[in-house]
Amino acid sequence: MTDTPRKTPDTLRSARWFAPDDLRSFGHRSRAMQMGYAPEEWAGKPVIAILNTWSDANPCHAHFKTRVEDVKRGVLQAGGFPMELPALSLSESFVKPTTMLYRNMLAMEAEELLRSHPVDGAVLMGGCDKTTPGLLMGATSAGLPMIFMPAGPMLRGNWKGKVLGSGSDAWKFWDERRAGNISDQDWVDIEGGIARSYGHCMTMGTASTMTAITEAIGLTLPGASSIPAADAGHIRMASTCGRRIVEMVWEDLVPARIQTRDAFENAIAVAMAMGCSTNAIIHVVAMARRAGCDISLDDFDAASRVVPLIANVRPSGDQYLMEDFFYAGGLPGLMTRLRDHLHLDALTVSGRTLGEDIAHAEIHNDDVIRPIDNPVYAEGALAVLRGNLSPDGCVIKPSACEPRFLKHTGPALVFDDYPAMKAAIDRDDLDVTADHVLVLRNAGPQGGPGMPEWGMLPIPKKLVKQGIRDMVRISDARMSGTSYGACILHVSPESYVGGPLALLRTGDLVTLDVPGRRLDMEVSEEELARRRAELAPPPARYERGYGWMFNKHIRQAHEGCDFDFLETGFGAPVVEPDI
Ligand code: FES
Ligand code: MG
Repeated sequence: MTDTPRKTPDTLRSARWFAPDDLRSFGHRSRAMQMGYAPEEWAGKPVIAILNTWSDANPCHAHFKTRVEDVKRGVLQAGGFPMELPALSLSESFVKPTTMLYRNMLAMEAEELLRSHPVDGAVLMGGCDKTTPGLLMGATSAGLPMIFMPAGPMLRGNWKGKVLGSGSDAWKFWDERRAGNISDQDWVDIEGGIARSYGHCMTMGTASTMTAITEAIGLTLPGASSIPAADAGHIRMASTCGRRIVEMVWEDLVPARIQTRDAFENAIAVAMAMGCSTNAIIHVVAMARRAGCDISLDDFDAASRVVPLIANVRPSGDQYLMEDFFYAGGLPGLMTRLRDHLHLDALTVSGRTLGEDIAHAEIHNDDVIRPIDNPVYAEGALAVLRGNLSPDGCVIKPSACEPRFLKHTGPALVFDDYPAMKAAIDRDDLDVTADHVLVLRNAGPQGGPGMPEWGMLPIPKKLVKQGIRDMVRISDARMSGTSYGACILHVSPESYVGGPLALLRTGDLVTLDVPGRRLDMEVSEEELARRRAELAPPPARYERGYGWMFNKHIRQAHEGCDFDFLETGFGAPVVEPDI
């Protein structure tokens, strides 16, 4: 598959630690022996880092505690030496204010773990939302051969025989509870039925989107991202990852050979066809920039105009979940229907081309993975809007909102921050109609901080009781991939740094035109200039610690929210450690 020379035992990176007849290597060998390993267990073998994002706080990765043993088994079978290294677990469920505040911290950790240890290649164990881009961004910068082992989606939820989807049904039934349509006992029963096994969210949220994107880039084994976490096939996939990474080290199949512009274009096409989470845009831009590829919001918008949404998985689809998607043929099946939109000659971790990887894939259910001429949504999942409210762009997921909002003008109801919104939204005397545009600001990368998933602003209680379930909402926040509705997100530049969203006032008319890709406030230039002159800078979010560094170095949403100093073009490349 390759004209790159194969590695030999003496050209392995780890040999620099273990092979020389000197004092330092004596230390490395004697300390390996301290753990009970004999020299013949490591000498001349690829050392494989397994970055494990297991923790007691991450239910999506609960199986990683034992699954890592399956990866190790594979490494050993193929003649490698496994070295498990724990990495930041980033539990979407429990980490506050938002895991996005820490995605780059995981990326830094992954990069430096790989750089500082005696390893030749890596298996990355992730899946819960930010763990996927975090691990991949870091491992890309480290540059060693790597393979991503996705956590797999959890089983479908169940309540009274009805299927429940992660996130989406929590929002939906919360509104029903606020409207008084379900009982307290129903709510308790839903709590017990919505997450029935380990594994990541099984709607097309950020986790399912990012692991599918990773497969489309070529960084997982073919089909790996669709396998449910609780399926025995997931265990077999884990051990195959272990075997394959050892071969990848010998083949010197580094990520730079896989993560080309073509590979990212494949990822974007797949994202559109899947009805991807809006978070994917930020992560793919950041991942591509690490790989030296200039991917922008416009690449997503261009793809969205030509790639139909064919995965009938909630929240964009009407009923199915990732488990159904797997039974229907999974991502390789979906990609067979996207052949015309994919670069099939892109290389993957299998050592083959993407086209070869999916050559024998089949589809077993045309309602779950729709034919191209019977899509869930004819144009893709996302649209990028610009205008005087968001000169650098913002995004909407038209497939997940009521069609009447795709062209809409209404008066703004502006909340300056999340607590203000929370305090007002359920008041019976709130001056709001279904035509209003709800606005939340100071929720962006610096203002949030960390761009929390607050973008699906709750519908005011007074309107919920009237049966209203969707409204136009605008923020510089993100929203969960399992959210839905006419939510305009990632407004850039954010209000906290003085973006025009900071100038909007309650009562101003806002016009949304998705077909025309516009978002504007109907306020004159002169008036905006007057308001800008009055604008006072907001108070600092942090005066010490990680948050202080975060706010100094975070990029805006349209640039992927990486730290400036972690980007590939920032300064000379890092030199390998002196051993
Ligand atoms: Fe982990 Fe949703 S909470 S993927
Ligand atoms: Mg999520």
